[in-house]
Amino acid sequence: MNKVLKISKIIKPFKKSLNIEGDKSLSIRWSLLASQASGISKSFNLLKSEDVIDTLKCLKKLGIKIKLNKNFCEIKGKGLNGFKYKKNITLNAGNSGTLARLIIGLLVHAKKNIIIKGDKSLSKRDFYRVTNPLKKFGAKFITNFGKLPIIVEGTNFPTPNKFLESKGSAQIKSSLMFAALNTKGTTIIKAKKSRDHSEILFKYLDLPIKIKKFKTYDVIKIEGGQKIKPLNYKIPSDISSSAFFIVLTALSNKSKLNIKNVNINPTRIGILKILKKMGIKIHLRNKRTYKGEQIADLHVFSNNKIKPINCPANLNSAAIDEFLLIFLVAAKANGISYFKNLSELNQKESPRLEWGSKILNKIGIKHKVSKDSIKIYGNPYLKLDKKIVIKNFLKDHRVFMTSVVAALTFGGKWIIFDKNSINTSFPSFLDKIKYLGAKFQ
Ligand code: S3P
Repeated sequence: MNKVLKISKIIKPFKKSLNIEGDKSLSIRWSLLASQASGISKSFNLLKSEDVIDTLKCLKKLGIKIKLNKNFCEIKGKGLNGFKYKKNITLNAGNSGTLARLIIGLLVHAKKNIIIKGDKSLSKRDFYRVTNPLKKFGAKFITNFGKLPIIVEGTNFPTPNKFLESKGSAQIKSSLMFAALNTKGTTIIKAKKSRDHSEILFKYLDLPIKIKKFKTYDVIKIEGGQKIKPLNYKIPSDISSSAFFIVLTALSNKSKLNIKNVNINPTRIGILKILKKMGIKIHLRNKRTYKGEQIADLHVFSNNKIKPINCPANLNSAAIDEFLLIFLVAAKANGISYFKNLSELNQKESPRLEWGSKILNKIGIKHKVSKDSIKIYGNPYLKLDKKIVIKNFLKDHRVFMTSVVAALTFGGKWIIFDKNSINTSFPSFLDKIKYLGAKFQ
C-alpha cells in the first residue's frame, strides 16, 4: 500500500449522508469490562480499528476467549481477576493510550508479573500519571522513567483509597475506576470533569457506584469486589471521527451532510458547542438515549462566514481530541481566536499543540503559540496554491486526517505521509472522503 497521499484539488459541493464507525472510547471500555464479567457479553458495531484489535489481542493473551466476526463481537468474561496467563507475558498496547492506561488499572490484582509495551508514539507518553496513583492500591510498577515499557507487579490484597484527579483526564479516572472494581471496600475519586463513559457503563451494569456532580469536578465512590454481569451493547458512532466530516462540510462550499447515530454524550460535544459559537450550523435530530448514552443524527451545513472565538477553557476536556480541527476553523475565521489551558494537548499521540502550530505555519496563518495556549489570526479569504508536505508526525492519526481536511478545503498541493495511521482509529476514513466526491492519489 502506498503510504503517501497526494491531494491537489479541493472537494466539490456535496449533499450526502454518512454512517461513521463505532466510538473508540466505548469500544475499548466495553471490551475490558466484558472481560471482567461473569459470562458472555456481545457487542454490535464495535470499532474494528488497530486500537480496539490491540485491546482484544491483549485480552486473549490474558486467557480471555473472544469471537470477532463481521457483525458482532463476543467476549467470554472470566469474572473479576479471572485472567489466566504465563509469568512475564508482554502485552502490546500499540498506539493506544486508552488501552494501556485502562488495562493497567485492571492489573493491580495481577497474580504474575506482566510487561506492557507500546509503539514509538505511545512509548514517548507519560505513565506516571497512572502508575503513581495506582501504587496506592498496593501494586508495584517498574517504569522506564515514567514511560513504557512497564513491569506490573500486582498485589494479592489491593487496598481501597482516596484519589484526586486534577488533569481532567478520563484515562486516569477510568484506570482508577477499573482498579477499584477489583478492590474490596470503597474507592473515592474526586475528578476534574472529563468524558464519563466508564461511569455510565458501571451504572448500566448495576455496579455499586455513586456520583456527586459539582461544577468543575465529580466525586465518584465505588464499592469494589462485586460480581459483574455480562453486557450486550450496540456501540454508537464516534463523535471524534465524525468531527473530521463536520469540519470538512463546514469549510466546504455549499455542502450539507447528515451523520447518523452519533454519540452526543455531553462530555464529548465540545466540538459542537465551539463550532456553534463560531457560527456553524449544526442541527441535532432524532435525539434518544441508549443505555445511558445520548445519541442523535447530526445535520451540518457549510458556512463561509466564520466568527472567531475566545474559547472558554471549560470546553477543553469535551473537545480534547478535536483541537487540530478547531484550529483549522479558526484559520478561516474573520478575526482573532484564542485557546488557553491546553497543555494536555501536547500529551497526545503527537505533541498536538505543536502540530497545530506547524500546520498553521505551513498554510501561512499568523499565530502565537505558548506551552498551553494559541492565538490564531484568521483569514476568511484563505486559499492555497503552494506545495505542502506533512511528515514525521509520529503517525498521529489525527494529524493525518486534519491535514486531509485542510487540503480538501484550502487548496494547494499536499503530500501527506503515513496514510496507514488512520487504521488506529478510523480505517474507512479515506473511503468515506472518496464517497463525498474527493479526488486524490
Ligand atoms: C480518552 C480520553 C482522552 C482522549 C483519548 C481517549 C478515553 O485522553 O484524548 O483519545 O477514552 O478515555 P485523556 O484522558 O488523557 O485526556
